[in-house]
Amino acid sequence: MNKSAAAIWTDLASLPQPTLLELFSAERDGGEGTDEPGGAERVVMLSGRIELAGDTAEDLMAPGGILFDWSKTHLDRAVLAKFAELAEAMDFAGQRRKLFAGEVVNPTEGRAADHATLRGVGDAAKVEEAAALIDRMGMLVEAIHQGTLGEIEHLIHIGIGGSALGPALGVDALSRDFARCDVHVVSNIDGVALEAAFAKCDPAKTLIAVASKTFTTIETMTNAQSALKWLADNGVSDPGGRVVALTANPEGAVEWGVDETRILPFQESVGGRYSIWSSIGFPIAMAVGMDDFREMLAGAAAVDAHFRDAEVAENLVLRAAFADLYYTRVRGCQTRAVFAYDERLGLFPNYLQQLEMESNGKRVTADMQPVDGPTAPVTWGGVGTDAQHAVFQLLHQGTHLIPVDFIASIAPGDALDPAHHRILLMNCFAQGAALMAGKKGEDPARNYPGDRPSATILCDDLDAATLGALIAFHEHRTFANAVLMGINPFDQFGVELGKQMAKAIEQGGDEFDASTEGLLKAATLG
Ligand code: F6P
Repeated sequence: MNKSAAAIWTDLASLPQPTLLELFSAERDGGEGTDEPGGAERVVMLSGRIELAGDTAEDLMAPGGILFDWSKTHLDRAVLAKFAELAEAMDFAGQRRKLFAGEVVNPTEGRAADHATLRGVGDAAKVEEAAALIDRMGMLVEAIHQGTLGEIEHLIHIGIGGSALGPALGVDALSRDFARCDVHVVSNIDGVALEAAFAKCDPAKTLIAVASKTFTTIETMTNAQSALKWLADNGVSDPGGRVVALTANPEGAVEWGVDETRILPFQESVGGRYSIWSSIGFPIAMAVGMDDFREMLAGAAAVDAHFRDAEVAENLVLRAAFADLYYTRVRGCQTRAVFAYDERLGLFPNYLQQLEMESNGKRVTADMQPVDGPTAPVTWGGVGTDAQHAVFQLLHQGTHLIPVDFIASIAPGDALDPAHHRILLMNCFAQGAALMAGKKGEDPARNYPGDRPSATILCDDLDAATLGALIAFHEHRTFANAVLMGINPFDQFGVELGKQMAKAIEQGGDEFDASTEGLLKAATLG
């Protein structure tokens, strides 16, 4: 009989814990008892590539891929073997099959999680339905680019959470050189955010995208009303004619007043934080064009295929999840950090925060039992090299052990002196090496303990396909983490209570605690 997950966690906790440098000399340098080659070929054991290029002539002209190097982590053969047992005990293969077959993987809401179908992967009927939705979006994008809604130069995209973070990341990462449309993503209900967008747009040439899966979110609907008023106040005769709705609730959008021809629906079974691939990605397509948007989907599909088909031992996504869980549950790490050594990925840590923390910040299992250990760590991060001069002191010498992911591109994003990109990459690699090796200092203040883990995700280039692949990698990493912990990553009931209480406060009448009553009085809302 298979060992229980609890017994495997106990085994994992009692395994010897060699340091990273010990692992390098014993396993990763081709040392005794391994079949790995040594010398320059070291560390092959925990690094691998996912190729993004397909086999069409066009793809072969621009091959590309991503190297995932997990060799500076404490995953050794014994730890990996235990995680393989855990994957078996938690029926990882069965859950993964269900995900791609479009079966229910979100039991509390009785839903499938169909985001991969938008990338052409999964159940054939659902893939066909998804392709029709993407085609519909493509037609509208092309029509707008050709001027059917008049001269459109600006797009104010209004949405929040999953309806904003993906669009903001995609637009920022992919349209720095050239944008077919000037896109502003506004999420916060704080009117300062919307006013900032207004200040940069000419109302006569502005389109408003209202992005909300439910089409009920108070921040989004309030901002959308104010955007319509701004158009009207500034002489636009038919403000409603400038609105595009991106939603899984098309009836709600019609009721709100959006014309059906400008509603781009997506499936209810696509979660908000997994919706960048759907019509929620409309602003990305507006900024970079539909061809690049489709490239983004294709890059994600390459990762889908790897995650779906690779065996446990070779599965790079699963390996990342093993490391995540090892640090969270065996080494007690409460946070994990992600540093993009690429200005274009500056919003990537923000995006990951919702993906990982809203998905896996849970305290009960999918079958309603208390979890048997900590769940999602706090995800945080920033951009290198800036972060080195701000927070890396703590990573090197602080008392917390924080696993770090570095993300970088071999090809530069700039056309300046190549020194810029060389220094950027060298710094990225140096940080991982320094965290691992540490250094004996002449006094304790100058001592670097080392043995601090990191992973490096190295892209050949950062383009639409790579961005799609990076996001899909993290979606599946999040799913794999959830399966191995036995939790449901696709619901988010935790965000509801605060929303309900905000509504109660707004509507008045309810009594709150003395502190909250005091704050209401101070702000004269009570
Ligand atoms: O508050 C959480 C949340 O439900 C997220 O999961 C979601 O991405 C966001 O709100 C926005 O929801 P909607 O797209 O329905 O406006």
